[in-house]
Amino acid sequence: MSNYEVAGSLGLQGKIVAVVGGGGANNGIGRATAILFAKLGAKVAVLDINSEAAAETARLINAVAENAASVWQLDALNADQVDKTLKEILEKYKRIDVWVHIVGGHKGRTLIEEIPLDVWKLNIEINLTSAFIGSRAILPIMKRQRNGKIVLVSSFAARSISVSGADYAVAKAAIITFMKQLAYEGGFFNINVNAIVPGPTHEPNPEKDRRDGRLPRVPLGRFARPEDQAKAIVFLASAWSEMITGVALDVDAGMQLGFVDWETYLSKHQSPTNIREGNH
Ligand SMILES: NC(=O)c1ccc[n+]([C@@H]2O[C@H](COP(=O)([O-])OP(=O)(O)OC[C@H]3O[C@@H](n4cnc5c(N)ncnc54)[C@H](O)[C@@H]3O)[C@@H](O)[C@H]2O)c1
Repeated sequence: MSNYEVAGSLGLQGKIVAVVGGGGANNGIGRATAILFAKLGAKVAVLDINSEAAAETARLINAVAENAASVWQLDALNADQVDKTLKEILEKYKRIDVWVHIVGGHKGRTLIEEIPLDVWKLNIEINLTSAFIGSRAILPIMKRQRNGKIVLVSSFAARSISVSGADYAVAKAAIITFMKQLAYEGGFFNINVNAIVPGPTHEPNPEKDRRDGRLPRVPLGRFARPEDQAKAIVFLASAWSEMITGVALDVDAGMQLGFVDWETYLSKHQSPTNIREGNH
């Protein structure tokens, strides 16, 4: 198969993709995702509260794929705005094949007894409620089409405890349960719903990474980049994942596999004394 045919078999050529949070104003997962979809032949609607960031993503897309991007400014927590935007996207493109909800993040970072109620609510809202509002709006459209792919974004914070705070961890854990319920309800209408579970993600920054105590226990040796998350999202929205639904896919370079660094791990395994004494 030629490279062109391989890319074509992903089935994204001509697909209409909406990326909510596609401005990628923070660490850029939204922007990297929107650009990758466009490179694979999709038309991409970039939705974001930050119109400058969204416009910049669209500019980058149109530089590599002419007229592939369009921009909508919206607050993903405003259900009326979401409905109105969906209506406008449908008027322009007639259908929406892929819905990627990237909006999220955390405000504040405190011990449980110090989390103000309004900060708790904010973190639940921006991470969980926004995903609910968007999914509730896109579901009937995809049901009518009898076709669709939805990808939500959780976090490694959901898998254990999080230094980003209990509110963020809980919201990201709830995303996984919500995604499964959505996958069940959508599945009978040929809609796949999955989530990625990113580990720490940023552009390469060797200096910052050296100071990060988590890196020595990352088996694959580096943190993920926005493009790594984008590839997983695109896979879950492509024809290659046709039989995958209800899955939370960890994209964390193996960070959650262990809580020791390699040297410590080896020191526990190499000595025959350790084996005899069952030292652990
Ligand atoms: N970067 C990481 O290390 C990391 C790790 C785990 C999970 N995540 C998750 O990945 C997702 C993307 O994170 P990122 O840091 O790469 O951000 P990003 O760069 O993709 O930016 C997110 C975008 O969402 C937009 N946004 C925020 N509130 C909005 C609203 N109310 N309505 C519409 N748009 C809104 C922002 O303007 C921004 O452009 C988030 O859900 C985050 O929680 C990130």
